Amino acid sequence: MDFKFTEENLAKIEAVRKKYPASKAAVMPVLYIAQEQNGYITKEVMDEVAKLLGINSVDVLGVATFYTMYHTNPIGKYHVQVCTNVSCMLRGGYEMLDHVVKKLGIDVNGLTSDGKFSIEEVECMGSCGTAPMIAVNDDYYENLTKEKLTEILDSLK
Ligand code: FES
Repeated sequence: MDFKFTEENLAKIEAVRKKYPASKAAVMPVLYIAQEQNGYITKEVMDEVAKLLGINSVDVLGVATFYTMYHTNPIGKYHVQVCTNVSCMLRGGYEMLDHVVKKLGIDVNGLTSDGKFSIEEVECMGSCGTAPMIAVNDDYYENLTKEKLTEILDSLK
């Protein structure tokens, strides 16, 4: 499906571009604006961002798929990101991931039918000293146990 920025967002993008000497450098804030408008980043969104900035779509793809704050699948009202990188893995990151999958009844990268929850397995989010951890939207939850995880997920229902 085609994607076009709203007039309001085009104005925001113009303002953002002025802050950077090269258009390529504006790709991250422009992707944020796109994600805010569309909910997640599709191929059409990436193509439009590339066209607007006069850069290659592959460069946009590289940024959109590298950083976990960009979503390339539809996400729920509560997007649960579970870290399974080294520190979290050693302290039960995969158990946490299994627990979230079972509790929500969807797979990794899945979305509940009511659109409320989605799950993503992510790389280190910089909270290694308090592993294992998850993020729900912009909030971090650390030093997790299955019990704490259950409480967190139940509180969001
Ligand atoms: S390894 Fe999980 S936050 Fe760093």
